[in-house]
Amino acid sequence: MALLEVKDLHVSFNTDDGAVRAARGVSFSVDRGQTLGIVGESGSGKSVSTQSIVGLARGGSVTGEAIFDGRDLLTMHRDELQKVRGAQIAMIFQDPLSSLHPFYRVDWQICEMIRAHEPRTDAKAARARAIDLLKLVGIPQAERRVDDFPHQFSGGMRQRAMIAMAMALNPALLIADEPTTALDVTVQAQVLRVIERLQNEFGTAVILITHDLGVVAEIADDVVVMYAGAVVETADRDELFYRNHHPYTEGLLRSLPAYGGERARLIPITGQPPSLIKLPTGCKFHPRCPYAFDRCRAEEPPLALVYGSSSHRSSCWLPHTVEGRESTRAQLLGGRTVG
Ligand SMILES: Nc1ncnc2c1ncn2[C@@H]1O[C@H](COP(=O)(O)OP(=O)(O)OP(=O)(O)O)[C@@H](O)[C@H]1O
Ligand code: SF4
Ligand SMILES: [Mg+2]
Repeated sequence: MALLEVKDLHVSFNTDDGAVRAARGVSFSVDRGQTLGIVGESGSGKSVSTQSIVGLARGGSVTGEAIFDGRDLLTMHRDELQKVRGAQIAMIFQDPLSSLHPFYRVDWQICEMIRAHEPRTDAKAARARAIDLLKLVGIPQAERRVDDFPHQFSGGMRQRAMIAMAMALNPALLIADEPTTALDVTVQAQVLRVIERLQNEFGTAVILITHDLGVVAEIADDVVVMYAGAVVETADRDELFYRNHHPYTEGLLRSLPAYGGERARLIPITGQPPSLIKLPTGCKFHPRCPYAFDRCRAEEPPLALVYGSSSHRSSCWLPHTVEGRESTRAQLLGGRTVG
């Protein structure tokens, strides 16, 4: 059984301009100890889809199921959900200062977190655990730095401290929402290594949200690609990188330096994501898709199995065999090239 199974999640926000449909039938699952990468452009619903399942999508109306360790988080009482959050499901965000309080020393913050969930842990043991965690995430001179305030840490160290705090209660699931976006490339790689190390040590499952497929290539086992509030493709990492089906995934990969080769060959996806208040008809990607044909504009494709796989799904009307897809693509382009 999956550790977390999200089924048919819908989240919408009522605004003066109309209902924002931020998640439309999102389903995904994460097994114990595995890493799921969720990718997509800004505004595709990555954060909303994960925050809503732990009760953090304020003001949103949420339907669907989110079965965590056998219990539905969406029907759980608030107090109970609060207990699960932090202890069993920890979250880290792009901005460490959203989790670390600027006025309190790092030691105090980690210890408070431990003692709030485990009141029987005495102060000395909690402090020792805080120091161990800081060491584990690679904070130099942890015994001394544990008494620092967050602003005395560099950006990368703050990110590590936040990860240490998230891991303090040995959660079964860590949701990391763009944890490395604000960091430079070297620090980014270090933080990913830290997450990986902790995962190996504690067997934690990780949901890693990012708009960077390069990050996903490094640590994800499985990948969910989101577009306009829906999952458009999902597969294991290798399948997604080497045998992707959906033109949006293809577009994301073409705009990736490491994949497209030299920088001059980078081909960004043209156009903008649609408004989530007034979505296009049919396939939501059709206004930007180089292969769009009549059916795409009329009917929204279901997220269906492709290439004879039992887990690779794509929501696209292109044929579901490799050969069929390739020849139809070539035909639709009629001698044009993508980009
Ligand atoms: N409280 C809210 N009220 C209205 N709209 C909201 C609210 N929260 C999120 N949205 C909208 O829901 C959509 C999805 O937002 P979300 O934050 O999940 O995107 P994202 O994929 O995480 O993007 P990013 O990569 O920029 O973080 C966006 O259009 C956003 O404006
Ligand atoms: S369904 Fe059509 S428009 Fe949508 S991604 Fe596939 S080919 Fe493109
Ligand atoms: Mg986000």
